[in-house]
Amino acid sequence: MKKLILDLDTGIDDTLAMSLAMASPEVELIGIIGTYGNVYMEQGLRNDLAVTDLFGKEVKVYRGLEHALSKGSFEVMEISSFIHGKNGIGECQIPDSEREEEEIGGIDFLIGAAHKFKDDLIYVATGPLTNLASALQKDPSISGLIGRVVFMGGALTVPGNVSDWSEANISQDPEAADFVVRHIDATMIGLDVTLQTLLTTRETARWREVGTKRGRFLADVTDYYIKAYEVTAPGLGGCGLHDPLAVGVAIDPGLVECIPINLMVETESQLRGRTIGDLSRLSDPVKRTKVAVRVEKERFLDMLVSRLSSLAA
Ligand code: BDR
Ligand code: CA
Repeated sequence: MKKLILDLDTGIDDTLAMSLAMASPEVELIGIIGTYGNVYMEQGLRNDLAVTDLFGKEVKVYRGLEHALSKGSFEVMEISSFIHGKNGIGECQIPDSEREEEEIGGIDFLIGAAHKFKDDLIYVATGPLTNLASALQKDPSISGLIGRVVFMGGALTVPGNVSDWSEANISQDPEAADFVVRHIDATMIGLDVTLQTLLTTRETARWREVGTKRGRFLADVTDYYIKAYEVTAPGLGGCGLHDPLAVGVAIDPGLVECIPINLMVETESQLRGRTIGDLSRLSDPVKRTKVAVRVEKERFLDMLVSRLSSLAA
């Protein structure tokens, strides 16, 4: 069975991504590395421990880095707290875990797992790419070891969501994202596809109907997110399933069609945070990144809704 590591800024859609991973028999979730973004890393770690406990899975949780490579600190944006709630899980109250994060740090955990599991390791990042960039800088050999890397972030064929050109995860740490796409083969699950996979209260009702506290939790957190979307993106018709789609594709790459491209991230110009093809590597026959541009949305929605219903039972 493939081993899966998640790198999360937990966050409501990160919670759904984590839940989909726990509900998927194709992969063993061997660890979660915390990052910053929707919440401070400390809050994210707390959520990771509490949510995995709620579902009866004692997944190990590791500390990542608390801010971007080029910065000395990080502040949660107001809009993040509006979308995900101050606690990252839509103000739902679930018991804190009695467990704590592991002593070894997330960067060393990832490097060790890459050497141990090699091609059998899948790595999915659904927050800024700071941890992965740091691991690649510390041990460049892991680039050729990890079997599959999928990240949620970026926007190639559509506008961004924090500015006209930049998506939230990439904009948190453009230097890290640029380093990652230049140094490891990866699949980008950006807004191009995640804004096509929408969830509504019709689907969350199915989790509530399971009648368990797990089902109520999944429905409550996601309804909070859907309500926020009604304000921030009226007319979209649901909430974007950004992070769970990255996990879905990690498990079943056939869910999306991709463009092979040598991607770069703008770090210098006014367009800082933009994901775009690198002109200087345009003719290079080897393409590092696969950017998802089409998605089998019905199949993915069925997968998510039914697997989380079983997890909730
Ligand atoms: C991404 O930004 C975060 O707010 C979400 O969790 C997702 O990873 C969407 O742009
Ligand atoms: Ca996220």
